[in-house]
Amino acid sequence: MTGTKALLEVDDVTIKFGGLTALDQVSFTINEGEILGLIGPNGAGKTTCFNVMTGVYQATSGQVRFDGTPLTRMKRHKITRLGIARTFQNIRLFKSMTVLENVMVGADTHSKVGFFDALFRTPRHRRTEGAALERAKELLDIVGITARGDELASNLSYGDQRRLEIARAMATGPKLLCLDEPAAGFNPAEKVRLMELIRRVRDEGYTVLLIEHDMRLVMGVTDRIVVLEFGRKIAEGLPAEIRDNPAVIAAYLGVDEEDAS
Ligand SMILES: Nc1ncnc2c1ncn2[C@@H]1O[C@H](COP(=O)(O)OP(=O)(O)OP(=O)(O)O)[C@@H](O)[C@H]1O
Ligand SMILES: [Mg+2]
Repeated sequence: MTGTKALLEVDDVTIKFGGLTALDQVSFTINEGEILGLIGPNGAGKTTCFNVMTGVYQATSGQVRFDGTPLTRMKRHKITRLGIARTFQNIRLFKSMTVLENVMVGADTHSKVGFFDALFRTPRHRRTEGAALERAKELLDIVGITARGDELASNLSYGDQRRLEIARAMATGPKLLCLDEPAAGFNPAEKVRLMELIRRVRDEGYTVLLIEHDMRLVMGVTDRIVVLEFGRKIAEGLPAEIRDNPAVIAAYLGVDEEDAS
């Protein structure tokens, strides 16, 4: 492969909560421009992995590096500014703000406008705000909810709220976008639209890390897959390799197929 560059390196990460080892010496890398799937049964450690990467939790041992920079003990907002954004397994939106406002709150992390600018609404602030509004509208267009910009976030359907979460995460200007079960609660048609959206996001130049239980979606959209079980990495490979991996089938796919019936 040409031009492969590791954007995020999870290096031998262990995290313990009391007696429970939620991640056990986990290592993997995400290359720039790829869509990496992170899968595994409930409680495998997938969300914990996001939490370690984004500074919500500190690893007990091991290290995460982003673009070569160690993230150890770095504050969340700094990690956001470095270029990692995420959505949450349980939707977290400002329900009493409009859709556009929710996206603009995301964009603010990168705005160069200081507190005083904002207070006195200087020309620079208005210029930046204008640019942020334009970008926010673009992002709504990318996720397919352009027409809903002035609605309260709470008025959106569940699927559209999930799409708004993605737009808001993108508004921070990340290099790496981490999606935690973005298709949860979606019907098959919505899942197809989401796959198209994830591809579109990647084509916009983002690198994507996707946690998802729906195998058809994961297999259909990812370039590579990492599999966790009980906090350990049990497999890593191309979608076709993962699909045929006996350890993965035993840990996950078998269970999933029973659930789906
Ligand atoms: N803050 C915490 N304190 C104690 N235990 C935790 C904490 N966060 C996660 N865990 C535990 O770590 C393990 C991994 O949880 P995690 O949420 O990462 O799983 P997951 O793979 O995202 O599962 P799911 O598919 O259900 O979302 C679970 O046993 C969970 O109970
Ligand atoms: Mg989870």
